[in-house]
Amino acid sequence: MNKKILIIANWKCNPSTQKEAEHLFTAVKKGIKKSDKTEIIICPPFPYLSLFKKKTNAIQLGAQNCFWEDKGAFTGEVSSLMLKDIECKYVIIGHSERRNYFKESDVEINRKIKSVLKNRLKPILCVGEKDRDSFNPEGHPINEMSLIVGEQIKKGLADISQTKIPDIIIAYEPIWAIGTGLPCLPDDAMKAALLIKKTLTGLYNRSIAERVKIIYGGSVVSQNAIDYIKEANMDGLLIGGASLNANEFTKIINKIAL
Ligand code: PGA
Repeated sequence: MNKKILIIANWKCNPSTQKEAEHLFTAVKKGIKKSDKTEIIICPPFPYLSLFKKKTNAIQLGAQNCFWEDKGAFTGEVSSLMLKDIECKYVIIGHSERRNYFKESDVEINRKIKSVLKNRLKPILCVGEKDRDSFNPEGHPINEMSLIVGEQIKKGLADISQTKIPDIIIAYEPIWAIGTGLPCLPDDAMKAALLIKKTLTGLYNRSIAERVKIIYGGSVVSQNAIDYIKEANMDGLLIGGASLNANEFTKIINKIAL
């Protein structure tokens, strides 16, 4: 099994020009030390994706969303088949900003994941609770967080054959930690990852659950990144704000690659 730590940059709707995007990509490319411990994935906005195609083997490309049909009369949509054609390897699906601002439902997320898998890309399914108060691992073993995340996983993965499950990456991203500077404690992220594995074991079996990579996202910076890998045993990180600063992002990568 591929044990590489995934370090994924989610640029969101940034930067605002092609020139800046190229500058950022080049600076990251130059700043990262070669390592077989990590896999670096950059998810820029759609218009920049093909600019970075074949630029380097050290960085893989990912998209931040896709549509579930391959082609057709669906104005404004981008299909996973198109993403495959421009050598994208990953697609973020169901990010909380898409669930919140664009009202993406679990049913739509499920369709998108199926389409991504059908076209042999890897989906990064984002799950997470809204309120910090609902994260109460010290309280009842079945707390609100585990119910919310459990439902998102069950619905997001509905009717997906178990042979495909190990290709899916699950990003635990508590909404209260995204872009707030209030990261989830590594210990709590680890508890969330265990709950996710338990849900997957219930849906499939233990050996399948063990093969799914679970990553953490939410206010990751160079000071805390390593703790999620070393202490919380996460399989990777999904990084928003800090990935827009080449120095900060390469610092994270190089610390983990050591
Ligand atoms: P953040 O975003 O690192 O800025 O908190 C993470 C994400 O939304 O994926």
